Order: sequence, then structure tokens, then C-alpha cells
Amino acid sequence: MTNSQLAGKRVVLAVTGSVAAYKAIGLLRLLTQQGATVDVVMTESATRFVAPLTFEVLSGSAVTSDLFSGHQDMRHLSLTEQADVMLVAPCTANTLAKLALGLADNVLGTMALTLQCPMVICPAMDGEMWSHPTVQGHVKTLQSRGAIIVEPENGALASGQWGQGRLAAEETILATVQHVLQPRRDWLGERVLISAGPTREPIDPVRFLSNGSSGKMGFAMAEAAAARGAEVVLVSGPTQLECPKGVTRVPVVTADEMLQALTARFDWATTLIMAAAVGDFRAKESHSHKVKKDQWKGEALPLERTPDILLALSAQRTHQRMIGFAAETDDLIEYGQTKLQNKQLNMLIVNQVGGEHSAFGNDSNEVIVLTPNSSPSPIPRMLKRQLADVLLDRVKTLSVASQSQPSASYPTS
Ligand SMILES: Cc1cc2nc3c(=O)[nH]c(=O)nc-3n(C[C@H](O)[C@H](O)[C@H](O)COP(=O)(O)O)c2cc1C
Repeated sequence: MTNSQLAGKRVVLAVTGSVAAYKAIGLLRLLTQQGATVDVVMTESATRFVAPLTFEVLSGSAVTSDLFSGHQDMRHLSLTEQADVMLVAPCTANTLAKLALGLADNVLGTMALTLQCPMVICPAMDGEMWSHPTVQGHVKTLQSRGAIIVEPENGALASGQWGQGRLAAEETILATVQHVLQPRRDWLGERVLISAGPTREPIDPVRFLSNGSSGKMGFAMAEAAAARGAEVVLVSGPTQLECPKGVTRVPVVTADEMLQALTARFDWATTLIMAAAVGDFRAKESHSHKVKKDQWKGEALPLERTPDILLALSAQRTHQRMIGFAAETDDLIEYGQTKLQNKQLNMLIVNQVGGEHSAFGNDSNEVIVLTPNSSPSPIPRMLKRQLADVLLDRVKTLSVASQSQPSASYPTS
């Protein structure tokens, strides 16, 4: 991956005493390959894992690890003055705590208190440590002060256990640094139609059928696309979320309303991203007055299917990229492949709902990306806003011309 996306940028790469310290070497290489100038700072513990010499050779400059030995040029102040971003990777539980509390007993902690630029923190630790309330409390404190946390991944840990604690993938860390440093405009000229949130189907004026979608993923996609230069229309079911800057919001309630709003703008769009959790069923009849408790004697509530929005739009498609989301509790890939094919999509993003890490309502998500003719591609857990950028990178590379046009007859499921 050689390009100059980070040319002219200055990164302070702070390495701490995690068993994953060696992975910082790969990060340093990626950053320099992209044109960044990297100043490496190491904690004393980090130097026990990897020799500073490796970083010095690869970065082309001296490593700062001792607060007192470099006092002549006050590197704890001068490096941060020049930096565009400080990347702490890997970040130990110990350093995370120091950063949250503002302790300044080493170079890294002292620098952090003089920092004028964004800080990206990539924790790596044992799963039990990561889930400890103290550590999670520090994460929240740092986030509330604007630090960007790149959450660790699930996987095999150094302890031999399985859990969340592995340093995030290089690809994820680099994408975050790029995002922080370079607000990109690569979606300029694109018109993106996005659906988000749940739909509500009334039973009577006060009761409805709905689902637990918060709308966060669709709103994150809208925010990311607008930030990257696209014109964005967001057709959203009922949510508490604020409309992102530069996005036009069209509020809807039912699946029918969502279908109408999307159909009316479909010709305009170059890309459709269907992130809404459209309810599949509605009451066959909805009452115009509130049904009183004692009017109901246990009769069944007859249901019928709501319109299949993706299928309907797929039939009208001319030039649009079509991206769907699927929320499943099990057999994610199998169900996803069927939906991808049946609805003739360019891409389907499958996420897991239900359970502790349900995609519904969470600020972070992990997904599997399905595209025709290629193998499923998992993307590890990260903040939905970061994930939105990673997904937009992938959507941008889709060649719509090579996608087969929809056939005259469609399957009905
Ligand atoms: C073999 C070994 C591996 C370690 N890996 C980690 C780790 O991945 N994450 C972590 O938070 N601490 C880890 N530690 C503990 C830290 O090295 C220790 O808390 C140290 O004080 C961190 O110092 P620092 O934050 O100044 O770098 C490890 C310790 C040892 C001996």
C-alpha cells in the first residue's frame, strides 16, 4: 500500500509495554509508506518488549523514552507542538489509566497533557482487563475528552484465552488515523439515498409494531458520506438521533411511507444504502380509536406483510449502486447470501442482532460484507462512525456497470 495520503503529516507514535508492542513496527512502516513523518515515543516497559533501535532505523529519528535525558530540546513539548496526531498503539491498561487521570510521570503522559492535536488510542490487553469496570471507566473519560478509541478485537489472546483484547487490525488503525488527519472528499458528486431506523406499524393510535433499531448505523453512514462530499438524503423512521450536518432528513413512520419517500428520490440517487430495519409485518386492520383494555378478550391480531422495499426499488433500478443491510440472529452468511442474490444487490452488510453485542442500539458494530462472486469479508468491531468510513471505502470501489441488470421476474422472498 504505497501512496502519499499522509504526506506532510507528523505523527507521534507512542508505544507502551504490551505484548503487542511488536505490531507497532508494522504501523510505523504503514505510516511512513503513506508519507507521514513519525516520531516514536516508548514507555520504559515498551523498551523491554522491542528495542528502540528497530523504531529508530525505520523512522529515521531518535526514539524518545526517557523524560529526563532529552531535556535540552524539551522533546516532551516540542514533539507535541509539531504533531498532527498522537497515536498510542498498543496502549496498555496502565497507560490508559494514566492518560485518563492526567498522570505525567513519563514522557508519554507528559506529552499527552500538552497535546493540541487529536489523540487516537488503541488498547491491547487481556480480555478480563479490557472488560474491567475501571478500564471501561477510563475509556469513557478519554472519549468524553475527545480521544478516539480504536477498540481491541475479539480473538485468541496472549494468555491462550479467547476474548476481546487484541490490538485492532492495522487496516482499522490506519483508516482511523487517515480519517482524523484528512477529511476526504472522495464522495463529491455522488448522491446518496440512505434509509435508517425502525418503522412503526400502528395497531391503534397509541400502539404499534416496531423493532429495536436505533438508526445509529444509517445516521453514521449519512454523516460519513456527507463529510466526504456526497449530497445525502436520509429517510429515517422514528429515532431520537440528531440529523448529521449537511444531510437532508425525510422523516417517515411506516414501511409504506418509507417506500414512497425512497421511490420518489430513487432516480436522483447514485447509491442507495438501505440501513433501515423495516418491519416485515403490520396489523391487517388498524383501529382509528384506542382499543380499551376490556374490549380485548384474547383474540389474535391478524398480520400481513409490509412491502418489500429493496425488491420494489431493485425492479426500478437503472444506474444505482444498491447496498443492503441484514440483521440476523443466526446463520448470518447463509441468510445474507440468499438476500444478496434475491434482491440483486451490489453489497450486503450482515450484522448480528440479539445478545450482548447486538447491532441494535450499540455505538459499535462488527459486520460481514458480502458481495457477488467474492468470499465473505468480516470487519472487526469498531465505532459505527468509523465502520461507516470503512464501508464507504468499499462501496466506492464497486463497479455498477459490471453488475447484472435486474431480471424481469423477481423471487418473492
Ligand atoms: C509478557 C507481558 C505482557 C504484557 N502485555 C500486556 C498487554 O498486552 N496489555 C497490558 O495492558 N499490559 C500488559 N502487560 C503489563 C504491562 O507491561 C505493565 O502494566 C506495565 O506497567 C505497563 O507499562 P506502560 O503502560 O508504562 O507501558 C504485560 C506484561 C508482561 C510481563
